[in-house]
Amino acid sequence: MIRLNEPALLANHSYINGAWVKKDTTFDVTNPASGVVLAQVSNGDGQDAEAAVAAAKAALPAWAAKSANERAAILRKWFNLMMEHQHDLGVIMTAEQGKPLAESKGEIAYGAAFVDWYAEEGKRIYGDTIPGPASDKRIIVLKQPIGVVAAITPWNFPSSMITRKAAPALAAGCTFIIKPASETPLSALALAQLAEMAGIPKGVFNVVTGTNSRAIGEVLTTSPDVAKFSFTGSTPVGRKLYEQCAGTIKKVSLELGGNAPFIVFDDADLDAAVQGALASKYRNAGQTCVCANRFLVQRSVYDTFAEKLEAAVAEFQLGDGMDEGVTMGPLITKKAMDDVHALVEQSVAQGAQVVVGGQPHALGGNYYQPTIMKNVSNSMAIAANEIFGPVAPLIPFDTEEELIAMANDTEYGLAAYFYSRDIGRIWRVAEGLEYGMVGINEGIISNAAAPFGGVKSSGLGREGSKYGIEDFLEIKYLCLGGLNK
Ligand code: SIN
Repeated sequence: MIRLNEPALLANHSYINGAWVKKDTTFDVTNPASGVVLAQVSNGDGQDAEAAVAAAKAALPAWAAKSANERAAILRKWFNLMMEHQHDLGVIMTAEQGKPLAESKGEIAYGAAFVDWYAEEGKRIYGDTIPGPASDKRIIVLKQPIGVVAAITPWNFPSSMITRKAAPALAAGCTFIIKPASETPLSALALAQLAEMAGIPKGVFNVVTGTNSRAIGEVLTTSPDVAKFSFTGSTPVGRKLYEQCAGTIKKVSLELGGNAPFIVFDDADLDAAVQGALASKYRNAGQTCVCANRFLVQRSVYDTFAEKLEAAVAEFQLGDGMDEGVTMGPLITKKAMDDVHALVEQSVAQGAQVVVGGQPHALGGNYYQPTIMKNVSNSMAIAANEIFGPVAPLIPFDTEEELIAMANDTEYGLAAYFYSRDIGRIWRVAEGLEYGMVGINEGIISNAAAPFGGVKSSGLGREGSKYGIEDFLEIKYLCLGGLNK
């Protein structure tokens, strides 16, 4: 049971063209902390995706024609409603995703911040006038909404990954369709409910729920009426969706997998590094794309850092995210937990040593022990694959040159972190890391004002900040001639 102050936030059908679309077939949404079924949600399909595209297309001209101020006023109401209902939205998220309630409420504030930010940024979509090569001509550059935007988002951030895409799209004058992860559709539907209350017109924000991701994704990536497609998820799935978008030459944004190195130099403040490590590694039980995946620790401080981290990790309280004092929830599914454990076992077979944890937790279900491993090498599978669980493999290094080579020895390039107090080293390492985002003496780097995104196989484009709105705009060049008398 999910108990809310505002029960209307608990919706269970797709939201298309301002209406709740009930289907004969449903799918279960379960609580990963208990396995209890929370809701049965309408199982939308390709036809629903087509209806959503048609609705978004029909709603586009009127929404695009509104002034930036008019759109900002509506987005601002959406933001206010999210913050007003922060507790309920957090409860829904904890129930379907498993993260502790404080973390869920933090995600609601994080997600709402994109709506607040872009409500304002929509007012600053500036064009240009450019002196032309001939005296009787001027070059004028307009920025216009790209059109209908479709997006697919993951279960690890059920609310903020939607608003990070929807807010700039809507602020730019685009209309929007979201297919949320089938593990966590309730947060998306609650956002739709609040969007309606905020006065977002029908067809401007649509949610298609369903387990048939292939059929829904096929429509969203191949429809000629969708101008822009945005995806957050794994690199293999992103690669496939990117291919599907090629037929209609869509503008594509991809926020894909990562393999973040968390680097500790011998001149670092080790206590600060441990705090950064806790936040970066164990946030959401290790289930984020920007989670520290490998700890590269200079040999002279390797054992001290390991001891300090071990002491800090012992403080985690695992359990149902709704319970008082719980600081880490379960993994999303039993399969996710089995995959994490398989990587740990493989590393042990290759010579790694478990310092703490290393097993499914005594609570059972999807819970995994917060884990630290030593004697790990950069060539082990655990250092090459995204772990997506609460496991910290510690790898020693000796020199800065060796470190840069190890850190960059991956197909991924999303986030990296390092701790050092040497200003020369800070510049050299920051410039040498092949990553889209670098946390320097900082373990949490995500916020609405900053450009989030990766290089290499970690994706295309940036979300958040002044850069994030550009992907939802087209540039139109006007050549104004005949100016001579
Ligand atoms: C992600 O894991 O995809 C997003 C993490 C974040 O926004 O910090």
